[in-house]
Amino acid sequence: MCGIVAAVTQRNITNFLVEGIKKLEYRGYDSSGLAIIDYKNNIIRIRCVGKVNELIKKVYKKKILGNIGMAHTRWATHGKVSKANTHPHISSNIIVVHNGIIENSSILRLFLQKKGYIFYSDTDTEVIAHLLHWEQNKKKDPLKKTIQNSIEKLYGNYSMVVIDKNNPSRLIAVRSRSPLVIGLGLEENFIASDQIALLNITKRFIYLEEGDIAVVTRKRIDIFNKNSTITKRKEIISNTEYKSVKKGKYRHFMEKEIYEQPESIRKTLENRLKNNSKIYFSELGLKENNLFYHAEHIQIVACGTSYNAAMVSRYWFESLANIPCDVEIASEFSSRKLALRKKSLLITLSQSGETADTLSALRCSKNLGYLGNLTICNMESSSLVKESDCCILTKAGLEIGVASTKSFTTQLTVLLMLIAKIINVKKEKNNISNKIIQTLNILPTRIEEILKKNELIKNLANKISHKKNILFLGRGDTYPIAIEGALKLKEISYIHAEAYPAGELKHGPLALIDQNIPIIIIAPKNSLLNKIKKNIKEISLRGGITYVFSDQEFDYEENMNVIKMPYVEELIAPIFYIIPLQLLAYYVALSKGRDIDQPRHLAKSVTVE
Ligand code: F6R
Repeated sequence: MCGIVAAVTQRNITNFLVEGIKKLEYRGYDSSGLAIIDYKNNIIRIRCVGKVNELIKKVYKKKILGNIGMAHTRWATHGKVSKANTHPHISSNIIVVHNGIIENSSILRLFLQKKGYIFYSDTDTEVIAHLLHWEQNKKKDPLKKTIQNSIEKLYGNYSMVVIDKNNPSRLIAVRSRSPLVIGLGLEENFIASDQIALLNITKRFIYLEEGDIAVVTRKRIDIFNKNSTITKRKEIISNTEYKSVKKGKYRHFMEKEIYEQPESIRKTLENRLKNNSKIYFSELGLKENNLFYHAEHIQIVACGTSYNAAMVSRYWFESLANIPCDVEIASEFSSRKLALRKKSLLITLSQSGETADTLSALRCSKNLGYLGNLTICNMESSSLVKESDCCILTKAGLEIGVASTKSFTTQLTVLLMLIAKIINVKKEKNNISNKIIQTLNILPTRIEEILKKNELIKNLANKISHKKNILFLGRGDTYPIAIEGALKLKEISYIHAEAYPAGELKHGPLALIDQNIPIIIIAPKNSLLNKIKKNIKEISLRGGITYVFSDQEFDYEENMNVIKMPYVEELIAPIFYIIPLQLLAYYVALSKGRDIDQPRHLAKSVTVE
């Protein structure tokens, strides 16, 4: 994980580095640091444990003047959270920041220790710094050649930026299965893990590709591919708006992103519902239609919230399009021997497109004989998009809060559109695809209605925020919504929450029921409602306290509380019912004073397996 920014500029670099690294805090926020070569050619390094704001306070206490430097925000993988383990790491004249994991770092560490290197940290990054220094001194090669020699010895997925104090006019960047983007300025250039760090200074970007090494000075960028041949990479102009990364009137990004959902769904639908009867994805062509036509099975792989969205879609693929669908957690998918289904289409689902487990699952799948692969992703320039046969973008806009909200609902929107598209392509059941399209058109308005119910949800949050355990129940396509509701609550409030299919209670979890464990139940009007009502009765009879989210009337049961929801069409009920659960998690976390946008131990983009 971790975030990197680096620059070689014509003006003083300090502000740029701290502002840039602040924007990458979503990639990890255990500790952060920066190193600048000042005008007297000294390396000034400042590091501290905690959020980037701690670093900023320290940096502004000193007056540092320099034109080349790098900064890093860390999510610990090698070595605990401590100042000594915080990047940048230095070996004499070599300064390094790095994202990812060097798998053979213990062997290299022993080797370098035997050569006399002293380690001040437990990190694999310090191993890189010493290795570069050792290689450079052994052969007296230029730094780029030294880096080429050294990376042959490094195993793992990583990206890094290196500065040599003895030649302080250039940055060298390496991409090895972990993204890096170069931002182009006027007689100054920048490097970052994500363009978001650079959007306020440039819109012009070059994405490095696998195995690329870039030598970046103020006036030049030379990129060498994995065969060490000088190569040209395409320059792109980003149309991402810088303002979309500000909180505006909201207290937290998560709150803003919850309220943005009607808009992000509208954007996701825009120009894709043709004449209200056909789905059109400009990203896809005839080749993909052919892929959909032949698909007889869908295999989805994803992690976390994206996995929960995939779980909802499994119900839809099978009930609406009659296509068998399996969903698997990405890390499990790539770690077991699979029996391939006939004519199976692999779909990866990801907000960031950089989730290492999902990327690894995609890479594993390529030799297995799938019909083809499609990624549904929010980040157009991500590795997952680049490495997939085709992609559909979710268009949620930038999501900064670590807890995914609008990416989940836009993923579900795309998945429903995809199902309608597949039905169209297979020329089957057009009435169903028409119904999907009509209902999707109503979805943003329905979500606006539910967002107005926030006072109701705040009251419930006050009632349950002191609890230690909370159960979530759903049935059918709202069971994955119960899982997602529980995930939201636990990740930002740190309350233990678990989800079950309501019918499964009597097979064990009923033993947990007492007055201390609130039970949240999602019970929209559908064919399973009567069964859910029976489950509620079973809980009430045993003294359990239920909070039922529903648009229906219920006979009174003891300790039952109904949170009355507005009407929603059955088809889109799963998308609609996650909204109150997102709000519930948000208000519970707010009342507990949690760090909502950056919950402890987490990071938004999980770029390590
Ligand atoms: C939870 C959350 C994570 C992500 C997961 C996958 O709120 O955000 O569970 O959903 O890490 O990330 P993406 O979708 O970027 O692959």
